[in-house]
Amino acid sequence: MGCRNGSSALSLLSLLLLFASAVSLANAKTHYHDFVIQETKVTKLCKTQTVMTVNGQLPGPTLEVNNGDSLVINVVNRAKENVTIHWHGVRQITTAWADGPEFITQCPIRPGGSYTYRFKISGQEGTLWWHAHSSWVRATVYGALVIRPKEGDSYPFPKPKRDSVVLLGEWWNANPLDVIREAMRTGGAPNISDAYTINGQPGNLYNCSSKETVIVPIDSGETNLIRVINSGLNQQLFFTIANHKLTVVGADASYVKPFTTNVLMLGPGQTTDVLIKADQPPARYYIAARAYASAQGAPFDNTTTTAILEYKSAPCPAKGISSKPVMPTLPAYNDTATATAFTTSFRSPKKVEVPTNIDENLFITAGLGINPCPRGAPASSCQAPNRTRFTASMNNMSFVLPSNFSVLQAHHHGVPGVFTTDFPAKPPVAFDYTGNVSRSLWQPTRGTKVYKLKYGAKVQIVLQGTSIFTAENHPIHLHGYDFYILAEGFGNFNPATDTSKFNLVDPPLRNTASLPVNGWAVIRFVADNPGAWIMHCHLDVHIGWGLATVFLVDNGIGEMETLQQPPADLPVC
Ligand code: C2O
Repeated sequence: MGCRNGSSALSLLSLLLLFASAVSLANAKTHYHDFVIQETKVTKLCKTQTVMTVNGQLPGPTLEVNNGDSLVINVVNRAKENVTIHWHGVRQITTAWADGPEFITQCPIRPGGSYTYRFKISGQEGTLWWHAHSSWVRATVYGALVIRPKEGDSYPFPKPKRDSVVLLGEWWNANPLDVIREAMRTGGAPNISDAYTINGQPGNLYNCSSKETVIVPIDSGETNLIRVINSGLNQQLFFTIANHKLTVVGADASYVKPFTTNVLMLGPGQTTDVLIKADQPPARYYIAARAYASAQGAPFDNTTTTAILEYKSAPCPAKGISSKPVMPTLPAYNDTATATAFTTSFRSPKKVEVPTNIDENLFITAGLGINPCPRGAPASSCQAPNRTRFTASMNNMSFVLPSNFSVLQAHHHGVPGVFTTDFPAKPPVAFDYTGNVSRSLWQPTRGTKVYKLKYGAKVQIVLQGTSIFTAENHPIHLHGYDFYILAEGFGNFNPATDTSKFNLVDPPLRNTASLPVNGWAVIRFVADNPGAWIMHCHLDVHIGWGLATVFLVDNGIGEMETLQQPPADLPVC
């Protein structure tokens, strides 16, 4: 088995995978799991923190299912903070109650409480993941959700020899909840992370981290599937493997037309499935990730996380002598050209039915904002530049989570006063979004405004980044849906010239779009899933500042198009 000296969660995983595929039956199965949220002491970078985990594991358990299976996950909160779990990218058709975002589809699971999430995977294959959806708990409460084809169905490529999960994370030498609380108190930007991690381990370019560096095994000649997930909080990441080509075959649990690249770029929330062929001399090669930092002048964590791709027949490094794995080159931190070349390479495997005859044509700006220091507030609470507080918005609306009901509960039971349905279909004022924006437009209004959609509505959204305070790339995630990304570009979206760039033939299907820095992206979907669905920037710092909105989708006709009744154990506020 090659040289094993570090802990290798992956080899155990591959054994489990073998076992799971050996016993799986042709019929759809139901998988039962217990997730106990607990306070766990974790040591990284030579420092010990108490953080929240699932079952004491970091990352949490990998869930492995086949398309068509159901999951029943009983979450018990034995920690001191509220929690919810979101199954990122799972369509949750008619089961919005199991989606998980705090105060959108449920109230939080309080310390001592529990809630059982029940949902089915339909028509999705590849890699998704799960994470806490409550404050910054997801920094340590997250894990992979691997969806293989139905028993008897095949992959649209030769069956890989092994498959490995690579969860990219972010680690602070502090309790992440303290980091965000401090930022909310001061109004400034939160501290940047101290390390990135691969499957929870920073890797041996960091202090005190060499023993735990993750090993990804491979054997000469074989082709393996690597499931890369950006589960970090606030940073887009470049990802590469030394001397190996990456063939992208899927993203966000949809297959794509295969393409080959040296480097991936993933925003938080996004997944990318790649095939790698062991066609290099048997040795050890670094798998590495570091920041794609698109905002000019903003501080970011510029460290590099690594794991090691290890050929089974690689010569063993003699004890005490470090045999350095081959290090790849990564793009420059601000290499937007490489990020763009990557995101624009995605196509669906074949011609798809893109919604046309659009019923709802929305234009939604996304970006930061600045609020003046409230009168009488201490300077310590206005630590953004020039004595202000950071904020963020969509269409000038900074989203405020309700606190006494979730949006879905209020909607279902007809409770008034929790939200209003007047989220605007376009910005209240048109301006040069990516130009030199007048200061008078930097301050959004606050509210819990949602946008109503009729069942079956065909929706187009032009997402438009703004340069307010600073332009940056935003990973925009929509719950409950996959959408087609028709086009992206820089500057202001211009319908007269940009509509002709739409890919109406084979656009990729995703749940998280990379909205280019100072640019736009156009997405389309059919509103065929009733519920309350949050759309937000997946940089957690931006969610807290209000970069979100909610779509409230009506029921259609009949059981298949109607939101189920709320489960009896749904938490109340
Ligand atoms: Cu991955 Cu709203 O979440």
